[in-house]
Amino acid sequence: MTSAALTLHWPTAAETTRAGTTLGPCLRAGDVVLLEGDVGAGKTQFARALIQSVLLEPEDVPSPTFTLVQVYETENGTLWHADLYRISADTEIDELGLSEAFEDAICLVEWPDRLGPLTPESALTIKMKPDGAGRSATLHWTDPRWPDRLEQVVANA
Ligand SMILES: Nc1ncnc2c1ncn2[C@@H]1O[C@H](COP(=O)(O)OP(=O)(O)O)[C@@H](O)[C@H]1O
Ligand SMILES: [Mg+2]
Repeated sequence: MTSAALTLHWPTAAETTRAGTTLGPCLRAGDVVLLEGDVGAGKTQFARALIQSVLLEPEDVPSPTFTLVQVYETENGTLWHADLYRISADTEIDELGLSEAFEDAICLVEWPDRLGPLTPESALTIKMKPDGAGRSATLHWTDPRWPDRLEQVVANA
């Protein structure tokens, strides 16, 4: 399977929001987006914008730092937003039901390194890093679904 990567530059928080808002409507059930980066990288901001672009009913999108998972109903089906920072064991990830969600839902996962062997091979990884006052986002995938899904995000970048 081929592997591909591209790096986008988001000079201000507004570009992070725009990228999330653009990607949201392109995602479908079974799509998993892994959001990597240190605390404050902008993972939650990206996820929040993405979720708000597809929510069926307007609602707040809090960080799942404490709840671990927040579930939303969107125009393209159920969406899970997980933050695994506080997870230590694979059993906890099993208990959350994340493996099933990876099959049936759209999933956004912060701190995906915690997934270990449960990491879906078909996922898109977005690694956010400080880049001057802004952020760089390196997108990486092997699954052939992603070039189509990312077309608008790249065109808008
Ligand atoms: N492209 C950007 N340029 C500058 N600041 C950004 C950018 N994207 C996000 N931020 C800011 O970085 C912070 C990131 O917070 P958050 O999304 O909670 O990070 P994380 O979930 O990665 O810990 C917010 O204050 C947000 O406004
Ligand atoms: Mg966060």
